[in-house]
Amino acid sequence: MFRIDGKVALVTGAGSGIGREIALLFAANGASVGVADINEAAAASVVTEITARGGDAFPIALDVADLASAERAVVAAVARGGRLDVLVNNAGIGLVGSVTETGPEDFDRLYAVNVRGVYACTKAAVNQMLAQDPGGGTIVNMASIAGQVAVGRRFAYCATKGAVISMTQSTAMDYVERGIRCNCICPGTVETPFVEGYLRKYHADEYEATKAALHARQPLGRMGRPEEIAPMALFLASDASSYVTGAQMTVDGGLTAR
Ligand SMILES: NC(=O)c1ccc[n+]([C@@H]2O[C@H](COP(=O)([O-])OP(=O)(O)OC[C@H]3O[C@@H](n4cnc5c(N)ncnc54)[C@H](O)[C@@H]3O)[C@@H](O)[C@H]2O)c1
Repeated sequence: MFRIDGKVALVTGAGSGIGREIALLFAANGASVGVADINEAAAASVVTEITARGGDAFPIALDVADLASAERAVVAAVARGGRLDVLVNNAGIGLVGSVTETGPEDFDRLYAVNVRGVYACTKAAVNQMLAQDPGGGTIVNMASIAGQVAVGRRFAYCATKGAVISMTQSTAMDYVERGIRCNCICPGTVETPFVEGYLRKYHADEYEATKAALHARQPLGRMGRPEEIAPMALFLASDASSYVTGAQMTVDGGLTAR
């Protein structure tokens, strides 16, 4: 695949699902990977997995919603690797509800992780990427097709993912002459603990039928798998994507083409 030998990467929300798969793939392709998560045990377990496969990884305790925590995470990555080449803003949380069903606390909680989290980690990473020699780096944001088209009863989630797409474009344009590229990935529905949690919380009594409907929603006839999203992150992190910036890379089994 695309090699990223010697690059130092920080992946947020890397203790589970898509982020875990990205961390594994980055390490398998030569990167030194900071596995950052609010769930420290999950991050440690992914580091153990990578190390067992001969890769280079280290755990970082991180709450993306907290700027000081994001700054400490970047310092930890630089302490280990000497610089920061790649940031993957993957940590994110979901919520089911139309606008009338969405309370202000839930709206603020989603905003804090999905929007302020991307702001905080990007700010910390860009400061480092501008200061290091040679300067520059690559940022990959995990948006969603929910930022491009409406997904039913996902008012707050759609709003936050639309913001991730906007932050991607702003960052890409503001630093286009400083050697920093910024892109986002817009996955469709991907089978991860995130979706499993949603099924158990909102559809426990109709679990199988709802899961079948989630599979059928994609023209390809099934949900995606984390290992089908991670290669896009690897491409965007690698020099093979040197002409790609400010882009929304859709990986959705055809959902938005219908
Ligand atoms: N699964 C999907 O269908 C899907 C579709 C489109 C986009 N996405 C996006 O992909 C990303 C990853 O989703 P996933 O399905 O792998 O989820 P997941 O729930 O399996 O993993 C998310 C990880 O983020 C961590 N996390 C949560 N809050 C955090 C915080 N404040 N600071 C640091 N880490 C935190 C969690 O501990 C967890 O390890 C999210 O941004 C999500 O919105 C998921």
